[in-house]
Amino acid sequence: MQKGFIFDLDGVIVDTAKYHYQCWQKIAEHAGVKFSLEENEELKGVGRVQSLEWILKKTSKKFSQKQKDIWLEEKNQHYVSLIKDMTRKELLPGVLAVMEKIRDTGHRMALGSASKNAKLILDILRLTSSFDVIVDGKSVQHTKPNPEGFLLAAELMRIPPENCVVFEDAIAGVQAANAAGMLSIGIGKQKYLHEAIHCFESFAEMDQTFLDNLILVNE
Ligand code: BG6
Ligand code: MG
Repeated sequence: MQKGFIFDLDGVIVDTAKYHYQCWQKIAEHAGVKFSLEENEELKGVGRVQSLEWILKKTSKKFSQKQKDIWLEEKNQHYVSLIKDMTRKELLPGVLAVMEKIRDTGHRMALGSASKNAKLILDILRLTSSFDVIVDGKSVQHTKPNPEGFLLAAELMRIPPENCVVFEDAIAGVQAANAAGMLSIGIGKQKYLHEAIHCFESFAEMDQTFLDNLILVNE
């Protein structure tokens, strides 16, 4: 049976979550809001506009759409300036080996990211050709926890959702995978990702028998 393996990008393939956090902190400062690392967990996987709205809900101050647009632009420019010099050293532990193993067994692979910068990042990391399908923040109307992106990835891979596996570091992403009827595998801390069917601190921590069963078992 051919399966579809869907990889989130930020925090699953590459360690960009710290850059998103750094940039949002600056914007939160402008708005006079405190924004902690703990709170940043809530924003993982969440689109740019929705992330800003989430931060601004922490204050009773009201901001014009013009001001919000300026901050969205500033956040993204800052973010792009941080990621443009990234190297493969920032790939997360074990992810390349897992991608290669999946590729070697003939399954399909998709990227399922909420980021509008996903293609840029894949190009920087020379990973674009690793995926059969790329679904990013430009491909969908609704961001995670809505399952639209993962369902689109399954459709484009021509693999039924129930035969898809999703690797996610975000609470919203795990919820989207579950809502899509896919097998959710959390990559990160169990305390945040307890809704995932399985969870590992990182790909490097993933039990090899578990991985072999996931990839090699043909039924
Ligand atoms: C997700 C990140 O992958 O992409 C979020 O986890 C981010 O933190 C979202 O807000 C949108 O990213 P971008 O690059 O389009 O601002
Ligand atoms: Mg992520």
